[in-house]
Amino acid sequence: MSENLLEVKGLKKYYPIKKGFLNKTQGFVKAVDDISFAVRRGETFGLVGESGCGKSTTGRSLLRLIEPTAGEILFEGQDIRKLSMEELRKRRRDMQIVFQDPFSSLDPRNTVERILEEPMIVHGVGDAKERKAAVLRLAGG
Ligand SMILES: Nc1ncnc2c1ncn2[C@@H]1O[C@H](COP(=O)(O)OP(=O)(O)OP(=O)(O)O)[C@@H](O)[C@H]1O
Ligand SMILES: [Mg+2]
Repeated sequence: MSENLLEVKGLKKYYPIKKGFLNKTQGFVKAVDDISFAVRRGETFGLVGESGCGKSTTGRSLLRLIEPTAGEILFEGQDIRKLSMEELRKRRRDMQIVFQDPFSSLDPRNTVERILEEPMIVHGVGDAKERKAAVLRLAGG
């Protein structure tokens, strides 16, 4: 197993700027422009910078919640950008974003029980009874 849990090489994300009636691309916002770093197994890694410098764009790219423009993202030696949707879905059991904005994490239209159970349903963890027990345990009940 590789010593690096995560390796990012030359990551770029350019958002197109579209304007006018024909919605033509006028240019690009270079939200992330050629960054490289590695996170070792067991290491806590902090990415700090002013607002708008591209931290969230980096995080979303790593999970392919948005498609990066260029670069290599190796998670446990495997290039995330080359995975099929099915392989990526399985990988996402091990990679998570905890969204800071409570409306992204805790959808007010759902109950806490539903929010806690949903990832287990998505990943096929346990049966209904086991999931219910896990939700109660997680909620400290
Ligand atoms: N969907 C988008 N379309 C176009 N531009 C975007 C999009 N999302 C982000 N940007 C731009 O990309 C740049 C980086 O944004 P990002 O949200 O990654 O910054 P951040 O470091 O997370 O900032 P903050 O500390 O405020 O959360 C900003 O200039 C932002 O306006
Ligand atoms: Mg952000």
